[in-house]
Amino acid sequence: MIGKVYGTGSYVPPHVMDNDDLSRMVDTSDEWIRERTGISRRHIAKAETTSYMAGEAAWKAVEQSRIAPAEIDLILVATSSSETIFPCTACEVQKRIGAVNAAGYDLNAACTGFVHAFNTAQAYISAGIYRTVLVVGAESMSNMIDWSDRGTCILFGDGAGAVLLRGEEGGKAFMAAHSDGEKSQALTSLSRHRRDWEKETDGASYVRMDGQGVFKFAVRKVPEIIEEVLDQAHMELDEVDYFVLHQANRRIIEAVAKRLNTDLSRFPMNLEEYANTSAATIPILLDEMNEKELLQRGQKVLMAGFGAGLTWGACLFEW
Ligand code: COA
Repeated sequence: MIGKVYGTGSYVPPHVMDNDDLSRMVDTSDEWIRERTGISRRHIAKAETTSYMAGEAAWKAVEQSRIAPAEIDLILVATSSSETIFPCTACEVQKRIGAVNAAGYDLNAACTGFVHAFNTAQAYISAGIYRTVLVVGAESMSNMIDWSDRGTCILFGDGAGAVLLRGEEGGKAFMAAHSDGEKSQALTSLSRHRRDWEKETDGASYVRMDGQGVFKFAVRKVPEIIEEVLDQAHMELDEVDYFVLHQANRRIIEAVAKRLNTDLSRFPMNLEEYANTSAATIPILLDEMNEKELLQRGQKVLMAGFGAGLTWGACLFEW
């Protein structure tokens, strides 16, 4: 049994902030940002919450799948920026789409979250525990950003993407997951709810990052995990139709393609428009590819995510 994609959906807030807008807020420029990251614009949530965006993306995936919401067994939402610690975003999505029979919970592995949630769904499906699973990645990164820190504020955006999986006989998904807690300080955001009794503050804290450290980690670990899932599947690189990587930085994706000696055209990208929406980048990209009819049944897709933790994960599956 393997989870086949029956539907995809995505939502990004309509408000766009381009690089010139940012250059009026911090000492940066459109040229610098595009050259170092490939990012031109990002969509920023104004009134929209993480659960609202998750619900919109989920609804589109469910509609496309033609599966009744009541048939969904499980909703998994990957997020690290929900507006509530509880209830979990998955329960808000359940309410929004009327998935009355579904269980639901959130999963946080920062930018790797969607890949881990997708793999969790595949594991449940292949074990025969659930048949129909909705997997969502949704983030409001703009709430976690220090808008005076030019080293981070240029990188992130908001949005959500969703994939509806249904178990079918035959096939297998090949998965890998890793983490390295020793390097946890490379990318952090402390909980806003941690009270600092000495300073009598709420301890609100924003994303802090060792940019070069994260860059080097991604360029080293992503090719390794791609090779790892290919080895599991006894497949060669050129048998993969698309490498759908976490959309953090164009230079990271270029470096991964180069290390694997693989043509960049097999690494679709949309980070120019949305920047890094953390757990949402991969499902937003899958939805765009699906909409453009780039994805056909039987094609091999290899997803790889990486991010805070540090965490990284991959899945090779058949569309
Ligand atoms: N605009 C202009 N200058 C900037 C800048 C900005 N937005 N951000 C940093 N700089 C400056 C630095 O202050 C530094 O100046 P200095 O040489 O006078 O000290 C210079 O640019 C080079 O900084 P550096 O950090 O070495 O740049 P970089 O080439 O490593 O690019 C990142 C910075 C953040 C774009 C890059 O490291 C990166 O993308 N890392 C990965 C981050 C990531 O993807 N995180 C999420 C993963 S899930």
